[in-house]
Amino acid sequence: MELYLDTANLEEIREIAAWGVLSGVTTNPTLVAKEYAGRGAKLTEEVLFAHLRAICEVAKGPVSAEVTALEAGAMVEEGLRLAAIHPHIVVKLPTTEEGLKACKRLSTQGVKVNMTLIFSANQALLAARAGAAYVSPFLGRVDDISWDGGELLREIVELIQVQNLPVKVIAASIRHPRHVTEAALLGADIATMPYTVFKQLLKHPLTDIGLRRFMEDWEKVKP
Ligand code: G3P
Repeated sequence: MELYLDTANLEEIREIAAWGVLSGVTTNPTLVAKEYAGRGAKLTEEVLFAHLRAICEVAKGPVSAEVTALEAGAMVEEGLRLAAIHPHIVVKLPTTEEGLKACKRLSTQGVKVNMTLIFSANQALLAARAGAAYVSPFLGRVDDISWDGGELLREIVELIQVQNLPVKVIAASIRHPRHVTEAALLGADIATMPYTVFKQLLKHPLTDIGLRRFMEDWEKVKP
């Protein structure tokens, strides 16, 4: 399973990319807004596109950039502009009627699409039939309403395997390291997670204690 960062923060991407384990990045309007909120000036398309280009250069892998249009024609137009920013851009569309129409048109033109806000196996099936390259079920938001995000992911992974559909599953809305393990065991192709969860994946107190002891013992005898 590949590991993606779910962020629009360049510093976070730079730090994790340096570990050598980062395969891509996903963003959404909320994450981009977080980077530009409180700056006074309105975010222009020029600034946004330069930011997305910089993310592509640092991430060196697929970068999902979400459209903000809600009507299919406008989504296609925005999607084509986003796709022209960098070859790594994957256009992210919401799983709605308009999103499906736009997905079909963009994928027919060779643009890779990530269908987002997926909360059922049937939505994933529709997205795959519309030519999506990726589907993004939201584990954490399902768990938030006391349903089972893992069960949603299991159904989607199984459906895609049984139906032999050429679409990758991105486990999204990851809230903690256990979600990552669960997604990997269930056969997700990718898990996209916040920076804090990425850091938590590595941390274990026994690793720190063990390393400290090795170093203390070595200090006693080192040449
Ligand atoms: O990028 C989509 C998804 O990962 C959002 O996660 O934490 O806002 O539910 P979250």
